[in-house]
Amino acid sequence: MADLEAEKARAAKRAVEEVRDGMLIGLGTGSTAAYAIRELGARVKAGLKIDVVATSTAADKLAREAGLAPLDFGGVARVDITIDGADRINPNLEAIKGGGGALLREKIVGAASDRLIIIVDSSKPVELLGGFPLPLEVLPFAHAWVTRAITDIGAKVRLRRQGNGEPFLTDQGNLILDVDLGEIEAPVALANQLDLIPGIIEHGLFVSEIDCAIIGRGDQVDIVYKSDCRGKS
Ligand code: A5P
Repeated sequence: MADLEAEKARAAKRAVEEVRDGMLIGLGTGSTAAYAIRELGARVKAGLKIDVVATSTAADKLAREAGLAPLDFGGVARVDITIDGADRINPNLEAIKGGGGALLREKIVGAASDRLIIIVDSSKPVELLGGFPLPLEVLPFAHAWVTRAITDIGAKVRLRRQGNGEPFLTDQGNLILDVDLGEIEAPVALANQLDLIPGIIEHGLFVSEIDCAIIGRGDQVDIVYKSDCRGKS
C-alpha cells in the first residue's frame, strides 16, 4: 500500500526546487499544497527571497503560520509559478480541482501564472477524469436553476454541506454543487458547455492552465510535461 502522505511530500519538495530568488509564487490549497507551503516557509527561513500570493483564506493562514506573508492578489497581474494540488488528473494534464472549494481563486491564480505545477500522490492520475465529483461554484441566487440545468444534461447534483449540515460557503460566499458526470470523455467540450450556463461562477475542470504535473510514486517522482514546461509566456 502506497504511503500517500510521503508521496505528497516528495512531489511538493520537488516542485519547490523550481523556486528561485525574486519569484512571485502562487500557493495552492489542500493537503498536498500544504506540504509545498511548509517547504517554502522553511526555505524562506533559510534565506530564499520570494513573494507569495494565496489561492484561499486557508492557504493564506497556513502560509502565515509557515512564516510567509502573502500579498493581496488583487494588485497582482502575473505570477511566476503556482504550486497546487488536484483531485484527479489525466495524461493530457486536464484535471478536476475544487475538492477543497477553492477552485475559483485557484483557476484565476493558475491562469495568471507562467507555470502552474500540479503536485499529486499516486492515487490521483487517471486515464479518464471521473471517480471524483466535479465541483461547481454557483451564485446562491442561481443554485436551483443551475441544479436543473445540470440535471438536464444527465448528471447527479449534490449541494455541498459542512459537518453541521449548513451549506458550505466558498471564500466568496458562494455555494458548491458537486456533480457526478461519470467518466468525462471530452473535458474541453464539457468545460465549454459549463461556461455557457449563467449562475456557474466557475467549474473545477482545468483544461488549459496546467503546465506540468509532479506525481509522487513510492520513493520516486514522475514529471509529466505539457510542451517544455517553461511556461505560458
Ligand atoms: C482545493 O480546492 C482543491 O482544488 C485541491 O487542490 C484539491 O482538492 C486537492 O486537495 P488534496 O491535495 O487535499 O487532495
